[in-house]
Amino acid sequence: MQAIYDRIGVGYANRRKPDPRIARAVNDALGDARSVLNVGAGAGGYEPRDKSVTALEPSAEMIRQRPPGAAPVYQGIAEKLPFADRQFDAAMAVLTVHHWTDIEAGLREMRRVAKDRIVIMTFDPASDYFWLADYIPDIAALDQPIMPTLSAFESAFGEVSVSAVPVPHDCTDGFLGAYWRRPHAYLDPDVRAAISTFAKLGDISAALGRLKKDLHSGAWMARYGRLMEEAELDIGYRLVVAGRS
Ligand SMILES: C[S@@+](CC[C@H](N)C(=O)[O-])C[C@H]1O[C@@H](n2cnc3c(N)ncnc32)[C@H](O)[C@@H]1O
Repeated sequence: MQAIYDRIGVGYANRRKPDPRIARAVNDALGDARSVLNVGAGAGGYEPRDKSVTALEPSAEMIRQRPPGAAPVYQGIAEKLPFADRQFDAAMAVLTVHHWTDIEAGLREMRRVAKDRIVIMTFDPASDYFWLADYIPDIAALDQPIMPTLSAFESAFGEVSVSAVPVPHDCTDGFLGAYWRRPHAYLDPDVRAAISTFAKLGDISAALGRLKKDLHSGAWMARYGRLMEEAELDIGYRLVVAGRS
């Protein structure tokens, strides 16, 4: 079966450059772990350089975009990790769990191979969506069924600590919420092409037309202009950290 990112991942590394502030949060959460498995590793963003990292990724296209010198990568899926029990000090997964076919199985596998710690960056579907969903309500309708609730992580790992990952206004990783303060960006097909949600939405040309018109008329600014004063915003991204007892 062709991995979905073989199709939508083309050009990913150009638009999805790991944001250093988010990378720091992930790295801090990994603590003193020395060996780390990065599940759904993509092109290698967020892989800490000061640790011994092993990557796992299903898409050949994403693997192809890993830079020279990136951590060794296995082609495979979270649901069936080709590693021994407790093989790594820690396992991490960034913006990937909602793509897994069987999230419960993938989380169970992370727990099996990680000796001390599990670090997951995800989106909490109980959060309020930012203004883009006012234009494209289908975003929430698409996300809600695939994004695991925070209680899914508790069921998998027991006690977890959850912290907000505020999105900087100039976030370099062009995921869905990255452009909350750069509204014109969503009109750019190249920007949208690097965001999997857009690949799953139907025809959104009417919604984009409304956004374009509101940006031009000043209606967007009148409604959301207060955001321009914020340096970062909590729009539902979360870091979930589980220790293993
Ligand atoms: C949005 S990208 C994130 C990549 C990387 N973690 C990052 O933050 O740059 C999502 C990744 O999840 C991968 N993925 C999809 N299904 C998966 C599965 N069942 N197991 C592991 N990874 C999967 C995709 O191929 C893609 O590379």
